[in-house]
Amino acid sequence: MKIGIPKEIYRGECRVAATPDTAKHLVKLGFDVLIESGAGKSANFTDDAYIESECKIAPDAPTLWAEADIVLKVRPPQMHPELGKHEAELLNEGNTLIGFIWPAQNPELLEKLAAHKATVLAMDAVPRITRAQKMDALSSMANLAGYRAVIEAANHFGRFFNGQITAAGKVPPAKVLVIGAGVAGLAAISTAKSLGAIVRAFDTRLVVKEQIQSLGAEFLELNFAEDGTGEGGYAKVMSDEFISAEMELFATQAKEIDIIITTALIPGKKAPVLVTQEMVESMKAGSVIVDLAAEQGGNCAVTKPGEIYCYKGVTIVGLTDLPSRMAQQASQLYGINLYHLLKEMGGGDRFKIDLEDEVIRSALVVHDGKITWPPPKKEDKTDKEQMPNSSVKLSPSPSPRVPVSSSPNITASVSPRILASSSVPTSKINKDLWLILIGLALFGIGISAPSDFLSHFSVFVLACFIGWQVIWNVKPALHTPLMSVTNAISGIIIIGGMLQISELSSSPSTILGAIAILIGTINISGGFLVTQRMLRMFQK
Ligand code: NAI
Repeated sequence: MKIGIPKEIYRGECRVAATPDTAKHLVKLGFDVLIESGAGKSANFTDDAYIESECKIAPDAPTLWAEADIVLKVRPPQMHPELGKHEAELLNEGNTLIGFIWPAQNPELLEKLAAHKATVLAMDAVPRITRAQKMDALSSMANLAGYRAVIEAANHFGRFFNGQITAAGKVPPAKVLVIGAGVAGLAAISTAKSLGAIVRAFDTRLVVKEQIQSLGAEFLELNFAEDGTGEGGYAKVMSDEFISAEMELFATQAKEIDIIITTALIPGKKAPVLVTQEMVESMKAGSVIVDLAAEQGGNCAVTKPGEIYCYKGVTIVGLTDLPSRMAQQASQLYGINLYHLLKEMGGGDRFKIDLEDEVIRSALVVHDGKITWPPPKKEDKTDKEQMPNSSVKLSPSPSPRVPVSSSPNITASVSPRILASSSVPTSKINKDLWLILIGLALFGIGISAPSDFLSHFSVFVLACFIGWQVIWNVKPALHTPLMSVTNAISGIIIIGGMLQISELSSSPSTILGAIAILIGTINISGGFLVTQRMLRMFQK
């Protein structure tokens, strides 16, 4: 099976759907890889580098599209400026195309592709579920956009980000406000923070508060009882009262903030305008606004999509190609997302469109010439986390903590579905059967084993029972429930060891007791040290 990677023809697009590194991975998956000559040039990948990765080079676009069974692209197909033909028409009948398609915004493109009997997978429709994270190109690109937004802001901001005390005077740190803390917003917060700025952030979804704080930024809160978490963990449209309270907050902030980075989006809707013309006018001269929502209309009233310009002393960055400005890295991440998708589809030898696979079904927008978007919604009424127009669940936040019935003092992240399934009659029968078998085994030991073995055995069984009860009733009050439990086990080991060495002698039991105390102590103190280090890593 042959994969073809054409040169992107969208004006200014520098990314390519495979780098020499990701192409090598595709070859290992069992595909032949054909790449259009010069396709990687704008991302700094030469034809020779692809040849070294066992790819073949197609001299021009018509050859590539004619020979490939599966075409990998970044941007949706469009009219080819040199060939005067639409890329959808270049795709051979019955062949597969994978790339960003934006099916909701491009119904005519879907029809064009369907007319060519194509099969099309949209990378932007890959569901945001945990299993599909490695194929989540939206997140890969949003991460880059958030980072690049700060770099663009720094480029247009005529000052340091970090505060400094120099012989020539004191420099205050830059103040950055990030509006919207999704994937891009969080990347922007972490980049601005690492450059030394004071960072504040706001989001309508209260669940992001901890994420913002863990990156060292301040979460701006409204005194307003409304949470923006909507379907599938995405934001929902807020009430007019909330939006005006939010805008009041931004109006106050605008007067002292140096840089505003806006990323506020609601799937399928125009971006909300949150930064008004008056707010921009109230900002200090030399301030910068980077509007990551520019393509969806912009969060700032004076944004011009695709442009950078100065509005009354404030630089407004409305670029819509931020990931493409980091083409080498963006192509690598996107290429890896594609590699994982193709692996999910069986690789070169067993490639197939599995309609039972929720990731594939969600991404499939045209199948054998039929438009299959939007995917059917799941009937399951308990699925509260559905993405708009998607058949699958999203996993934006950890599942709710449900008490585990066998141990009243311990809670664990167990999905209601797992609990429900554990209460079905078959598992109860299995449990009863086990109890009967254990009872019979104990009875057998009781009547056949010698009496001195029996006394030791009874102590052993009682110790197991009491130990189990003690350990599972420990409250998870330390860093993690796991640490609480392992410390409880180590604590019991240490007490056991101390009992053994209470008489000073060099008997094997005293030596073993001393070793047990040593290992138990290392486990407890080491656990604290390692956890403390990990927490510091996240707090950065
Ligand atoms: P997005 O690009 O759709 O929106 C950006 C941010 O803008 C969101 O945080 C949203 O709450 C915020 N926003 C919307 N209206 C606003 C307003 N009026 N004021 C302030 N902020 C506003 O978001 P993105 O980055 O695509 O992520 C959306 C969700 O998907 C998140 O919950 C994220 O955790 C989840 N996700 C889950 C993944 C998974 O694999 N489980 C992977 C990636 C994202």
